[in-house]
Amino acid sequence: MATTRFDSAGPLRGELRPPPDKSISHRAAILSAMGEGPTTVENYLVAADTRSTLDAVAALGAGVEREGDAVRIEGIGLRGPGERAAGDSSREIDVGNAGTLLRLLPGWLAGQGSAAWRLDGDESIRRRPVDRIADPLRLMGAKVECRDGRLPPVWVQGGRLNGIDYELPVASAQVKSCVLLAGLLAEGETTVVEPAPTRDHTELMLRAAGIPVRVEPASTPIAIRGELPGRRVAVGLAERLELGRVVVPGDFSSAAFALVAAVIVGGSEVTLSEVGLNPTRVGLLGILNRMGASIEVVEQTPAGGEPVGAIRARHSPALEGVRVGGGDISLTIDELPLVALAGCFAEGSTVVSGAAELRHKESDRIATVVEGLRGLGASIEATDDRFAVEGAGGLSGGAIDAHGDHRLAMLGAVAGLASLKGAEVAGFDAAGVSYPGFEADLRSLLS
Ligand code: S3P
Repeated sequence: MATTRFDSAGPLRGELRPPPDKSISHRAAILSAMGEGPTTVENYLVAADTRSTLDAVAALGAGVEREGDAVRIEGIGLRGPGERAAGDSSREIDVGNAGTLLRLLPGWLAGQGSAAWRLDGDESIRRRPVDRIADPLRLMGAKVECRDGRLPPVWVQGGRLNGIDYELPVASAQVKSCVLLAGLLAEGETTVVEPAPTRDHTELMLRAAGIPVRVEPASTPIAIRGELPGRRVAVGLAERLELGRVVVPGDFSSAAFALVAAVIVGGSEVTLSEVGLNPTRVGLLGILNRMGASIEVVEQTPAGGEPVGAIRARHSPALEGVRVGGGDISLTIDELPLVALAGCFAEGSTVVSGAAELRHKESDRIATVVEGLRGLGASIEATDDRFAVEGAGGLSGGAIDAHGDHRLAMLGAVAGLASLKGAEVAGFDAAGVSYPGFEADLRSLLS
C-alpha cells in the first residue's frame, strides 16, 4: 500500500473551488435515469464513487455521455428498468465503494414488476448494513434478500408496491431517499419520518423534477430526539419526472478539509468558493463557530437551486473544546472526524456523543479516527457511540492508516500539515473516492 507524506507546512493561503457535491451528483444521475428524456448534469463529480453510479444507470439502460464537465443522461422513465429487464440489460450492479448508490438504487428497483437485480461492491461496501433499506422495502411489498440478513450483496426483486408510513430507526438520508424513490412507484402515499434532520437533496431534486413532495416538521415526541426536530416527508405515486438540467454545487464535505486546515495551520487564510451551503449539511460551521473559529460565509444562491456561497476561514489560535451531540450529529455526519482534529488544537475537551452511525461508514470511523489521531499524538478516547479529545494545542505527528476510507486519508493529510513533524498517510489514494484532486488542491494553497 502506498504511503504519502504530508510535512508540517503553512500557512495556507488563497482561494479554492472544491469538487462537485458527491451526494447531489449521485442523486442527479439516478433521478435523471428515472426521468423522461435527456438531462444535462453540469459540474458532475468525476470520482470513483460517482463513476459507479453512472455505470449503474447505464447498466440499467440509461444513455450516459460526457460533455466537458457535464454529463448528459438519457432517462429510461420510472418503469424503464422493469420494461428493459426482459431484454439483455445487466442484472448485476457493481456499486464499488458507493454507499449512497447501494442504498438509493434499490428504492427504484423495488418498484419494477417482478424483475430482480443483485447489488454488490468492494470489501468495504460488504461491511455496510443494508437491512435498514430491506426492512421498509419489504413492508412496501418488494422481495429483498441480503447476506446474513443485513449485509451486501443485496438482491432486490420488484413487486407491486404499496405506500407506507415509515419512521426511520436511524437518522439516515440514504434510507429516507430509498423509501421516497420506492414511494414514487407505490400505490397511495409514502411517508418517511426522520428522528433528526438529514440532508434533503433528494426532496429538493424531486421537486425540481416536478414531483410534489410534502414536508412538515415531525412533531410526535418520538421524532424529536435531537436539538432540531426531524421532518415528515411524503410523496405519492408518480407518472413521470423530468429534470432537464441540474447544476451541482461544490461539496461542503470536501471543502471542509481545507476549511479546518485553514483554522488550525498558523497564519492561514483560505476562501472556498461555490460551495453548497444546504443547511442540512453545514453543521460543522456552527460547531467551529462555537469553538471560536474565524469563519465568514457569503451566500450567493441562484434562484430556485441548492444554497451556494463562499466561506472564508482564518487561522484561529484560541479554539476552545466543544460538546457535540443530538441534532448536531446528522447535520455534521461526514465532518465529525474533522471536529476531532480541530479538538486536538483546542483548549480543553471536545466530546462528540450519540454518533454510533460513524461505525457504519466507509470504515468504523470511531475506531479509525481514534487510532489515526492517536498515532499522530492525540489524546483521544472512545466508547460505543462517542469520542472525547483532550486538546493539547496541536499534534506532534507520526503515521496514520486511511483504512480504505477517503475521509480518513484527507484527515491524515490535513493533520500532517498542521502537526509539528508531519504525517505518513498509508493508503492515501483512497481520497480519490470523493476528491481525486485533493492533494494538488491542498498543496496549491501552500505555494
Ligand atoms: C449520504 C448520507 C449520509 C452520509 C453519506 C452520504 C447521502 O449517510 O454519511 O456520506 O448522500 O445521502 P447516511 O444516510 O447513512 O447517514
